[in-house]
Amino acid sequence: MKILITGGAGFIGSNLTERLVNDGHEVVVLDNLLRGNKIKRNIFSKIEFVEGDVRDEALVLNIAKGCDIIFHLAAVLGVDVVADNPVETMDVEVIGTRNIIKAAERHNIDKILYASTSGIYGHSAIESALTEEVLVDPRTSYAMAKRYNEIYLASHHEEKGLNAIALRFFNVYGENQDNRMVVPRFFEQAVAGKPITVFGSGQQTRDFTYIDDTVEACVRLMDVQGYHIVNIANEAEWNIEHLAKEIKHITNSSSEIIFLDAPKKRYDYEVERRVGSSDKLLKLTSTKPTTTLQEGLALIYESKFKK
Ligand SMILES: NC(=O)c1ccc[n+]([C@@H]2O[C@H](COP(=O)([O-])OP(=O)(O)OC[C@H]3O[C@@H](n4cnc5c(N)ncnc54)[C@H](O)[C@@H]3O)[C@@H](O)[C@H]2O)c1
Repeated sequence: MKILITGGAGFIGSNLTERLVNDGHEVVVLDNLLRGNKIKRNIFSKIEFVEGDVRDEALVLNIAKGCDIIFHLAAVLGVDVVADNPVETMDVEVIGTRNIIKAAERHNIDKILYASTSGIYGHSAIESALTEEVLVDPRTSYAMAKRYNEIYLASHHEEKGLNAIALRFFNVYGENQDNRMVVPRFFEQAVAGKPITVFGSGQQTRDFTYIDDTVEACVRLMDVQGYHIVNIANEAEWNIEHLAKEIKHITNSSSEIIFLDAPKKRYDYEVERRVGSSDKLLKLTSTKPTTTLQEGLALIYESKFKK
């Protein structure tokens, strides 16, 4: 198949690009390189790379021609980045997704797989792992725009028959991630012997999903028809203090773990608990994430830091 990946030079996108190229697909990547290019050199030479902005309608309409599927991952993200750039965050989400949908309709493209987020659950009540049916509670520009796009895609499915999957990723981590995110930040601090800085009490929980499991889920969902919102979650709840201790242990670091007050701009993001259910993913694809956080962290250490 010929597959367009927006944001394909980013963390998830570069890993997905590699997998799709290795599976024999023809891949076109659109990325404005806001975060540099994380695609490996040997993979880069096998794809068509277009440097540009997903908000550029003419460009998107042009490069999508002949594609069978679009993975739409281009986004502005990172807690501090989004807090500092709420307008750009929303523009890229809303205008970018509108362009992608226009391109899919213009060129009869079979399906859009859109990167949504577990951030949409916000402070949703957690009695057990969050399913796609719980009442969502998006509070930030980022989460609001992601939810808007889920509904926008659903509307195009209902009215025009577009196949679309909204991928609700839960804290993806792994190779190629940069230090906007907590796992690489803690690794860098631990390996350098600097204090590992936890915001707040460290008791807030997240569900960390390893990149290879995430990519596997994305690939399997390419075969699913219709409109679906799908959690991609590891179904394990870890608190941030525990994560810091685990990384300190794996890296054999002497770093101290210190607790800082969260900066004011992070306030909206301070969700106490988050853990997802991947039952729907399992039902649709017969697979769900299996890599434990300890295993995933050890893989990162082996590949990136161990001499
Ligand atoms: N990493 C996670 O834990 C996580 C969790 C939930 C949702 N997501 C979503 O998954 C997707 C990929 O995330 P990631 O972690 O790989 O992030 P990333 O920042 O590494 O990748 C995003 C890519 O989009 C590109 N981009 C940004 N603005 C663009 C624009 N206007 N036009 C073209 N390209 C643009 C960036 O250059 C970057 O390469 C995003 O949509 C994100 O919101 C990620």
